[in-house]
Amino acid sequence: MDLLLHFLLLVAPVHSWLSLEDWGSGSIEGSIGEFGECVCNVFLPDTSFPADRMELIQTTSSQLSVEITLQINKVNSLKIELEVLLSSLSNLTARVEILESGPDKYIKLDFELLRIELREFEALVTQLKASLNSSSPAFESLYTEIRNMSLIVDQLESYDRNNLEVIRIEFVKLQRKLEKCQDDKDDFSNAEIGSCKHGGILRIGKPVVSQLNAHLSGGYIYGGWGKDTKPLPGSENMYWYSASSDTLVSRITQYSDYYKLIMRQAFKTHELYVANRYDWRGLGNNYVVRENSLYYQYRSPFSMGKLNMTSSTIANRVIPMATSQFSYHYSANQNLDFAADESGLWVTYATTESNGKLVLGKINEKSFQVEDVWETSIFKPSVGNTFMVCGVMYATRSVDTKTEEIFYTYDTNTNEESYVSILFEKFQNFYVYLDYNPSDQRLYMFNNGYYVYYNVKFKVE
Ligand SMILES: *[C@@H]1O[C@H](CO)[C@@H](O)[C@H](O)[C@H]1NC(C)=O
Ligand SMILES: *[C@@H]1O[C@H](CO)[C@@H](O)[C@H](O)[C@H]1NC(C)=O
Ligand SMILES: *[C@@H]1O[C@H](CO)[C@@H](O)[C@H](O)[C@H]1NC(C)=O
Ligand SMILES: *[C@@H]1O[C@H](CO)[C@@H](O)[C@H](O)[C@H]1NC(C)=O
Repeated sequence: MDLLLHFLLLVAPVHSWLSLEDWGSGSIEGSIGEFGECVCNVFLPDTSFPADRMELIQTTSSQLSVEITLQINKVNSLKIELEVLLSSLSNLTARVEILESGPDKYIKLDFELLRIELREFEALVTQLKASLNSSSPAFESLYTEIRNMSLIVDQLESYDRNNLEVIRIEFVKLQRKLEKCQDDKDDFSNAEIGSCKHGGILRIGKPVVSQLNAHLSGGYIYGGWGKDTKPLPGSENMYWYSASSDTLVSRITQYSDYYKLIMRQAFKTHELYVANRYDWRGLGNNYVVRENSLYYQYRSPFSMGKLNMTSSTIANRVIPMATSQFSYHYSANQNLDFAADESGLWVTYATTESNGKLVLGKINEKSFQVEDVWETSIFKPSVGNTFMVCGVMYATRSVDTKTEEIFYTYDTNTNEESYVSILFEKFQNFYVYLDYNPSDQRLYMFNNGYYVYYNVKFKVE
């Protein structure tokens, strides 16, 4: 069986696989999954596998790894992603070999898992292309190799037209995507980490899809993920994740680094509810992690919650005037939205007095109180989400299912608001979590169950 096919299948956008009619009869079994999604088991014909080419790809990837070490910025996370890629490729190879030695000469592929694994690959290539110099010879040879593989796919196509036509189309899409990477290669911050010597956000890069959530559940669409916004020494690489099939926040899981996050190997899970002992649960999924504490909307009483994950202790504070009457556009119960930036910790909400207009509060981290308040002129239910960068609040709204827009900013440094239009692409329409992280200047989104992040480019002041 053909590992190349795995490699290709993995790039397919989720929706393009949902149409069973595209597939030749007898080659696929489809069923409806727990959450109404299509679950497909595909039986692909046995053909000779171009192992030499796959090896070349792996070799090229290793060369890339060497090149990356020369890059000064964000080098470490890229290398980890490369390791993740290589290990999932070898895992795939191993799985194929096991299956190949089976009795029936047909290979059963778990589509959902494959999709996830190729998304990782896609994210990696996109990111490498964006961060490496586009003239990098290692990248060019990877690119050539991928092009060459399309020729092989063309040859394989004659074997089973029905199946391979679909693959070929997806493959062409991948090529286009790689070509487009050329345009994105400078989608990176141009300010020092921690510095506010820039003129605010100029634009937002393409969504980088890390993978489906750690529960591997398409139904876990309410949640969030990211890094500590002010990591304790030694925890700089830590990631966290929380999700559920409803808006209740019941636990948060921590991973020591990106690799562990992708491999779903947590080092700690904090339960916010233990029957007959305590109920610290939250709502709305608009939390942040800062100095190893989770700041979130506490459910009962309606207040700000702070779970110190170092000491496993809880604190909560009612915000005078804040109401749970108004939520964001995409989901219910999003009443308190926490954000962190270069200047500290923030919370947005709405009040009855403001008639649902968004109010922005600065939190004093020592006293855990809202110490300063700004009233904006935007109606909270019309807003998709908000985040803070350098004391400026950015508010988003949906343009269509694929596009989101930063349409409004409020600068607490000057008390000025302005209507703007910074469009950015969404991987999927629905999202509940969007926050900026000042420690790496990225935007983190929990997008319909997927971990997605964006690089940000700032205006030169
Ligand atoms: C591949 O990865 C999966 C999931 O991480 C694991 O269960 C499986 O044992 C691995 N297969 C091989 C052959 O390493
Ligand atoms: C990118 O390539 C150009 C031309 O080859 C070179 O001048 C430049 O220094 C390279 N930049 C980096 C970051 O390697
Ligand atoms: C592409 O394929 C051609 C013909 O099969 C081969 O000669 C060439 O070496 C291949 N190039 C790469 C980069 O694999
Ligand atoms: C969390 O608890 C630890 C241990 O009591 C304490 O040292 C630390 O300051 C607390 N963190 C925050 C953010 O309050």
